[in-house]
Amino acid sequence: MDKVFVNLGSSSYEIFIGENILSNVGKFVAGKFTKILLVTQKNIFDAHGKSLTDGLDAEKISYTVAMIPDGETSKNLREAENLYTRAIEFGLDRKSVVIALGGGVVGDLAGFVAATFLRGVGLIQIPTTLLAQVDSSVGGKTAVNHALGKNLIGAFHQPKAVFIDLNCLATLPEREIKSGLGEVVKYGVISDEKFFAYLEDKAEKILQRDAETLAHVVKRSCEIKAEVVGEDERESGLRRILNFGHTLAHAVEEQTRYEKFRHGEAVAIGMVGAARISCELGKTSAANVERIEKLLKRFGMVTTCDGLDAEKLFAVTFRDKKTVGGKVNWVLMKNFGDVEISGDVPAQVVKKIFGGLCRDE
Ligand SMILES: NC(=O)c1ccc[n+]([C@@H]2O[C@H](COP(=O)([O-])OP(=O)(O)OC[C@H]3O[C@@H](n4cnc5c(N)ncnc54)[C@H](O)[C@@H]3O)[C@@H](O)[C@H]2O)c1
Ligand SMILES: [Zn+2]
Repeated sequence: MDKVFVNLGSSSYEIFIGENILSNVGKFVAGKFTKILLVTQKNIFDAHGKSLTDGLDAEKISYTVAMIPDGETSKNLREAENLYTRAIEFGLDRKSVVIALGGGVVGDLAGFVAATFLRGVGLIQIPTTLLAQVDSSVGGKTAVNHALGKNLIGAFHQPKAVFIDLNCLATLPEREIKSGLGEVVKYGVISDEKFFAYLEDKAEKILQRDAETLAHVVKRSCEIKAEVVGEDERESGLRRILNFGHTLAHAVEEQTRYEKFRHGEAVAIGMVGAARISCELGKTSAANVERIEKLLKRFGMVTTCDGLDAEKLFAVTFRDKKTVGGKVNWVLMKNFGDVEISGDVPAQVVKKIFGGLCRDE
């Protein structure tokens, strides 16, 4: 079993990565926490819940399983309230822990409940999608959506531990693997050319879900995220580089009502946009942009947003919650592993690049 340490002072924790490791969660919980609210979805629990609950049973830990419906629409205050009710009825106390077994939807909702119930109880993340393993389960961001916008209500709440069982990826639909790969490619761009080259080299193996290759991909991604989060827990500086590709991605997701693209797919388009803007401003080379586009295409990802309206996309970037004082903070690329934040990208440059992406160029 591999470990990645997330260094956050008294909130530090470990990410455990390996195959068939869910039965170890019971040992981790035993003696530390009194009761467990296990939040999951039916298909995930059916496929992967047993070794987890066997491990809890072996330690005689008291738990209750709360299923939430599938889909982004579950990430709302009503579902959170249902979970609070379950927690109260089950007698969850301050020394209890919420376990999130699932993708980013389960992780964000269960994490939000853990952050707010009794002003905060423990949280253990068991991410089961590639996106959740490399991104959403690490870093402590939790949230639910509001009818007027995504992730608008939330809290920072670091988990006590993250257990990444690589076996969970075996049952994941192909599209969800691709979505996770969007974030994985991002890590190569923002912080590690060697990792980017590894992804280029091993693209085929990754798509075949070769266990050893995926193990490295997940571990390296977690290391990079842990490093960034360790430097800047509350996103006041460095952590913003994790938003590479996200300014346009959020606009594309909003304009397609979160129905057409999975998050990582939108990030792929967004990264191409950010890289092209960087090139247009003379910050990076056309060859670097080409390399990113080529890798994304090898992973079978769409890299344009054909048919969307560039003007509308541009307007939406100003509504992003990351926009501060009316300025859109673009994460621009200079080289692999070398990015910068810029609050003054000229509107005509952004519109030109968006225009190209909307015409499928
Ligand atoms: N907190 C953060 O830092 C952060 C970062 C990125 C994304 N997010 C959030 O994450 C969410 C998206 O997460 P996601 O992409 O994991 O989507 P998701 O949680 O909806 O999971 C995608 C689908 O895969 C299914 N699934 C999950 N694990 C499976 C498995 N092992 N086998 C088979 N099917 C499985 C789920 O039931 C679901 O149908 C969004 O709400 C986004 O806002 C949060
Ligand atoms: Zn993302």
